[in-house]
Amino acid sequence: MDKFYVTTPIYYVNDKPHIGHAYTTILADVLARFHRSLGDDTFFLTGTDEHGQKVEKAANARGVSPIDHCNETVVRFQELWEKLGITNDFFIRTTQDNHVGVVQNVLQALYDKGEIYKAEYSGWYCVGDERFFTEKDLVDGKCPECGREVTEIMESNYFFRMGKYREWLIDYIQTHPDFIQPAFRANETLGFLKKELGDLCISRPKSRLAWGIELPFDTDYVCYVWFDALLNYVSAVGYLRRDEDFRRWWPASCQLIGKDILTTHTVYWTTMLKAMDIPLPKTIFAHGWWLTGDKKMSKSLGNVVNPMDMIARCGVDAFRYYLLAEMSPGNDANFTEDAFVSRYNSDLANDLGNLLSRVNKLTLRATGGTIPSPGTFEDADREFEAEVSAAAAAMPVCRAEVKLDQGIAAVMQAVRAGNRYIEKTAPWALIKSGNTERLNTVLFLAADALRRIAVLLQPVMPTKMAELAAAIGYPNGDIGTIDRISAPSDIAGRKMTETAGLFPRIQVEATPVAPVSAKKEPKKKPEPSSCDPIAIDDFAKVVLKAARVLAAEAVPDSKKLLKLQIDLGDEKRQIVSGIAETYRPDDIVGKTIVVVANLKPAVIRGVESNGMLLAAGHGDKIRLATLDGDIRPGERIG
Ligand code: ME8
Ligand code: MG
Repeated sequence: MDKFYVTTPIYYVNDKPHIGHAYTTILADVLARFHRSLGDDTFFLTGTDEHGQKVEKAANARGVSPIDHCNETVVRFQELWEKLGITNDFFIRTTQDNHVGVVQNVLQALYDKGEIYKAEYSGWYCVGDERFFTEKDLVDGKCPECGREVTEIMESNYFFRMGKYREWLIDYIQTHPDFIQPAFRANETLGFLKKELGDLCISRPKSRLAWGIELPFDTDYVCYVWFDALLNYVSAVGYLRRDEDFRRWWPASCQLIGKDILTTHTVYWTTMLKAMDIPLPKTIFAHGWWLTGDKKMSKSLGNVVNPMDMIARCGVDAFRYYLLAEMSPGNDANFTEDAFVSRYNSDLANDLGNLLSRVNKLTLRATGGTIPSPGTFEDADREFEAEVSAAAAAMPVCRAEVKLDQGIAAVMQAVRAGNRYIEKTAPWALIKSGNTERLNTVLFLAADALRRIAVLLQPVMPTKMAELAAAIGYPNGDIGTIDRISAPSDIAGRKMTETAGLFPRIQVEATPVAPVSAKKEPKKKPEPSSCDPIAIDDFAKVVLKAARVLAAEAVPDSKKLLKLQIDLGDEKRQIVSGIAETYRPDDIVGKTIVVVANLKPAVIRGVESNGMLLAAGHGDKIRLATLDGDIRPGERIG
């Protein structure tokens, strides 16, 4: 039995969790679930970072004590993790007595060893990041990490002799290729170490900051919040308190962080461990950032996506799936609701949901639900089986390299192969022709593929995969574990139960290219969300019709507008549309387009418009909604 100890950063307690925090925590959860499913001895740690200037400031601003403030805000994280199905084994708060005691013991031990000394100090401090910088670190006089204002500080402080470990650390990183992942992040750290490495200021005078862990050897000072926070990874598993536990879990197998805190982990943390004579974690894995637009999603920038909102609208499992499938952990990823909806619809509703519902319906029709034993395999069967096996083989490799997006992509490839297999073997025709042996093979293989897919995706979508398992005859969730995924199947003879769609499609609205000038009507109305369902009656109010474009010309003095004459079957109309940056008049004449026929007439730039065409995109990247094949103008769409 292997051991697996995974950690997330401990998040600043007064931040509101957003999808960035959710991502790291879900990633850790999926890794922990995988390892538990393999039977590994697993410990998963997350928690909150509760000391320091940020918390003190926020508490002061609210007129409450720092600990009351922490107690009130920590629940945001705890509640979110519960909602997201996070299976952490412990939640550490740095204000807990046990942690405080460990930090003080470490400080005293390092002080006694001469690893900590007192000196005069001047530097620049960024409150937002709780970090000191030297003059030459600053970029245009601002914080090199976040670009915010820094304050100059001069005082006596205690220092950890970090600088003397520079050579050792460079050597360690170079001789341990697994230590910092992905590999290019190791190069970033090595780049940082090329410069001189100074000692680390690890104290704050209480006169400036009272909210922290008191230094045991000088009660006028508290401990620097990062020095305190990093120790959570060992204090949580019994360091200096429960030797057996500590030996069981440390060194950590995988410490997940975002790239924003690479240096604090790969330089501060590692040199602290070295000074304490503790082995380093096996891997520190730094993933990229979730962005909105081209900016890091962060509370201070005010551009965050609230995970609670996403869960309420789209469900926990779809949210977990999206975050993991969308981000290649080495890179940044962009969060947009459109990308969420389109991935949900294509991967989950169309591909996976559809495969289950087809196999389910066909089996119920053919056998009343009992999954048959297979007959002899043909080429098509072997090929399909091989595609599922390829996914089963890929997932553990991707998991070990923390490339879950690729593991998921391999599984989705198997899902799509499943849909192709059904089309190719056409079980409905086999039912009709009474070819039972062939039919049995196809139904067995398709159901067994679903079983293996559910096992592979279970750590990512625990609830939905349990539903899938129940639908294919494993009502108690005893669907098996990844290590047994290629063992002989026990699915034949199990009973399928009728299932409602696993992933109901999210209806996508066409983005109307509203020619009504945005200037006249500033967009104050909240945009309806793609995830908010409407009733069919609401939809029926909109009369959509096929229309043929008879003629088109530019509207004078406008870069954007075209004036179109359209044939709506029993009438001809003129509409004005903002598509001129993409379409020239000639491009569009003769096309059959989709028009909202019952829109109130409007006058745009002095030209009358009677209706609106549908298209997606903007500027020079617009695409008209057109109709597939021949359809008479005037035909109602719906
Ligand atoms: O830094 N994209 O806490 P923090 C991806 N308390 N991940 C993101 C993200 C984004 N836009 N924003 C945040 C601290 N994260 C310290 C850590 S550890 C001993 C102390 C995630 O609340 C990511 O994991 O600022 C990042 O490293 C972490 O949240 C920072 O959380
Ligand atoms: Mg931060």
